[in-house]
Amino acid sequence: MTSVHVALGTRGYDILIEAGALARSGELLAPLAKGRPMPIVTDANLKAQLNALRESLNAVGIETQAIVVPAGEGSKSWEMLAFVMDRLLDMGIERSDHVIALGGGVIGDLVGFAASILKRGCRFVQVPTSLLAQVDSSVGGKTAINTPAGKNLVGAFHQPSFVLIDPLVLETLPPRELRSGYAEVVKYGLIDDAGFFAWCEANGEALLAGDIEAREVAIAHSVAAKARIVAEDERETSGRRALLNLGHTFGHALEAETGFSDRLLHGEAVAAGMALAYAFSASEGLCDPADADRVAAHLKAVGLPHDLRSAGVDASGATLVAHMRHDKKMEAGTLPFLLTRGIGATYLDRTVSLDRVAAFLDSHTVPA
Ligand code: GLY
Repeated sequence: MTSVHVALGTRGYDILIEAGALARSGELLAPLAKGRPMPIVTDANLKAQLNALRESLNAVGIETQAIVVPAGEGSKSWEMLAFVMDRLLDMGIERSDHVIALGGGVIGDLVGFAASILKRGCRFVQVPTSLLAQVDSSVGGKTAINTPAGKNLVGAFHQPSFVLIDPLVLETLPPRELRSGYAEVVKYGLIDDAGFFAWCEANGEALLAGDIEAREVAIAHSVAAKARIVAEDERETSGRRALLNLGHTFGHALEAETGFSDRLLHGEAVAAGMALAYAFSASEGLCDPADADRVAAHLKAVGLPHDLRSAGVDASGATLVAHMRHDKKMEAGTLPFLLTRGIGATYLDRTVSLDRVAAFLDSHTVPA
């Protein structure tokens, strides 16, 4: 069992990582419930997890009502936001009540945003059920829905009151989704922790194969890294939190090119994006090419995309850069890029020439 505190003063909260925590959620959440009911929002694929959560809450006398939305990114919509909020209002939710978000990133983003505006801000608890949500999206208070204009364009910073992470729930996660979430674990090593990247090289395959201890270590380490960064730059204004976007600008172009579809999952795009960020940095003479090779080799070893070809993308540099120009991080005509001086030495560069990025993408392929 590990507990990590997100040090944000009055908005601070704890993240508990414990194999079996879901079965103990009643005793863990009772101090927050204070005798009030706890509504649960989840998706239709999580029946077993919902039953386990309800059973544990009911056993300590916490009343629950479930709101079930369809699984998938489509639920991050105005319609589903209105549906969830109307249901919570019908249930008589009060401002100091806690809504439980049980699910992956979609549920966390949707419920967090609903909580941020319901009664001008009510409380919520994250119970993430995917590796990606456990190591990234459930921590840090970014919430959003998608609109026809793009992904995550309507949202709020709204911190949860508690994050309960049970690595055992990953046992039923499809292997491809698990691997996709693992890309975000590797990201923490590549950002500023070369020792953790070396740990990933040594333990990543065991983690993906089911080693619970390795999963707990990786989640706790990732969450602690994210908590530190969020505490330093909660609203992404100083550039520190932007480091968490490593691989996301290249990755965004790959996701756009593949239609934000199952052809390339978000974490897969981030994996290829990180490898490309390292390879681009090497091609610009900023980092040792051996470091870029090491990153690509690890991603390849665990079955993640590590270049354009393995990401299933066959587009010109100009096409991919055109997607980048629509990235919401675009500011005053420039796009901040996360580049690197080596493993664990990522930095933000606002002076990158998109023409050079396009030329690099046209020339870069890792030998099969
Ligand atoms: N996933 C990036 C962030 O939370 O800032």
